[in-house]
Amino acid sequence: MAPHARRIIIAPSLLAADFGRLRDEVAAIEAAGADWLHLDVMDGHFVPNISFGPVVLAALRKHTKLPFDVHLMIEPVDAYIQAFADAGADNISFHPEAGRHPHRTLQLIRSLGKKAGLVLNPATPPESIAWMLDLADIVLVMSVNPGFGGQKFLPSQLPKIAALRGMIDAAGRPIALAVDGGITPATAPAVIAAGADTLIAGTAVFGALDYAAAIAALRPA
Ligand code: DX5
Ligand code: ZN
Repeated sequence: MAPHARRIIIAPSLLAADFGRLRDEVAAIEAAGADWLHLDVMDGHFVPNISFGPVVLAALRKHTKLPFDVHLMIEPVDAYIQAFADAGADNISFHPEAGRHPHRTLQLIRSLGKKAGLVLNPATPPESIAWMLDLADIVLVMSVNPGFGGQKFLPSQLPKIAALRGMIDAAGRPIALAVDGGITPATAPAVIAAGADTLIAGTAVFGALDYAAAIAALRPA
């Protein structure tokens, strides 16, 4: 499919919101036209930062209808999948680098009725997920090293996005191709041209004064 023919999903990352006003921030981003709410879960072990866990998801779940797109940056992964499913996750994505049996993790997420996602660090090659793509609903390319918001976009990831677009098209079933890290109105066009259909943005949305305008600025003209 031509890049312009795809509807682009915008998933603002809560990591850049005001943590003292999470309920209001979520309501505001929903009213501003966000498609999904991206929730970055960090454990201080797989990544050098700690964010929040399932208790925060569960507290926010009753205040919004937005799909919860959970990005687990934790190790181990499997022991926590049930807790995030129970807390209201719709999509659960994890890093195959964080576990020994990522194929099994995908099976586990799907067995709970959730959409399952694979996240690739900047150094992780696209071929590493070829033999489990049949179980993936989302492939997420990190365009920064995971752990912090506000980092600079890595253009080195563009050919990887294009390679994954080819793999997904060949798979012949719907798999979202998401990109996370340093997404701004300046970097989004190249990411979409490379084949992404889902943009995750923290700073560029929650760091703006007008959330609706910030979301609109990420969509293709
Ligand atoms: C980084 C997180 C991202 C982060 C993106 O580890 O996975 O979702 O919130 O933040 P920005 O858009 O500021 O790069
Ligand atoms: Zn993320």
